[in-house]
Amino acid sequence: MIRQDGVRVKVPASTANLGPGFDTLGMALSLYFYIEMKPAESTVFHLHGQDMAGLPEDKSNLVYTVAQMVFAEAGVALPELEISMYSDIPLTRGLGSSASAIVGALFAANLLIGSPFDRGKLFDMATAIEHHPDNVGASLFGGLITAIWDGSHAEYLRIDPPADLDVLVAIPDFQLSTSKAREALPTQISLSDAVYNVSHVSLLTAAFVANRLDLISSAMRDRIHHPYRAALVPGLSRILEEAAEHGALGAALSGAGPTVLALVDRRRQKEGELESFLLGVLKEQGIAAKTIWLKPCTSGAMELTMEKDVSFLENIKGEF
Ligand code: HSE
Repeated sequence: MIRQDGVRVKVPASTANLGPGFDTLGMALSLYFYIEMKPAESTVFHLHGQDMAGLPEDKSNLVYTVAQMVFAEAGVALPELEISMYSDIPLTRGLGSSASAIVGALFAANLLIGSPFDRGKLFDMATAIEHHPDNVGASLFGGLITAIWDGSHAEYLRIDPPADLDVLVAIPDFQLSTSKAREALPTQISLSDAVYNVSHVSLLTAAFVANRLDLISSAMRDRIHHPYRAALVPGLSRILEEAAEHGALGAALSGAGPTVLALVDRRRQKEGELESFLLGVLKEQGIAAKTIWLKPCTSGAMELTMEKDVSFLENIKGEF
């Protein structure tokens, strides 16, 4: 059953790794990507919002190509689409913009053809496209996700983030592609570094479940990607070492960077101090950045009610 009027969906941004949880932990964040998808006579795009100018407006567009994967899997032909998008998520900064586009495309396309697939199947498809489940899992399910991927199937557990967790991100004004940030990583690590990360991510995950915010600062440390990526974000090493002295529970590179993320206990926020510290360290390295306070987002991808005769942009305006 094709929904001829089209569908509108909302998908959260995400942060991956949270320090030691490389390619496995992810958390949804309160920045959003919106898509409207409709059957059309010929394919057309309407792109709005953060960093959307310059994205392809033809059938090479990621949202279009991912939607076609859903139709092919379902055996449905729907080659022409009208796709509108609005995003608040900065591109290529480590806040899961491509994951939210992939999840949004899968979710919208599935709705458009009458929802033949459940979220578990969409998660497998999203992970097969993205190659790691952390960002896509968080965008699809919301909250905190811990996931494993065997190359064809992802198993996951969703955890509600601790209620007092706030998130401060410092977003540098340069882009860093995930592929470049992955090229900086070694192909092998030592047994002691593996043990270090396994123990830290285990404690971090348990601390989130048990609401033990006091354990985050020691548990959030990592030895398998930060040491190698530090050179790509000058100032990162100092931020990781000293953020706790300025009011953070812990800090990490957000996904593959360059955004730096600090977790904060909302009851103990020191007004302005952490922001000044993050921006000051980056500025000393000649990096302009902006900070945004975010919250963990507990909802994953969701359908928006289509209000009759209300345009896509009008419809989502009430959302922010
Ligand atoms: N886990 C991935 C990485 C996230 O750190 O490379 C990037 O999307």
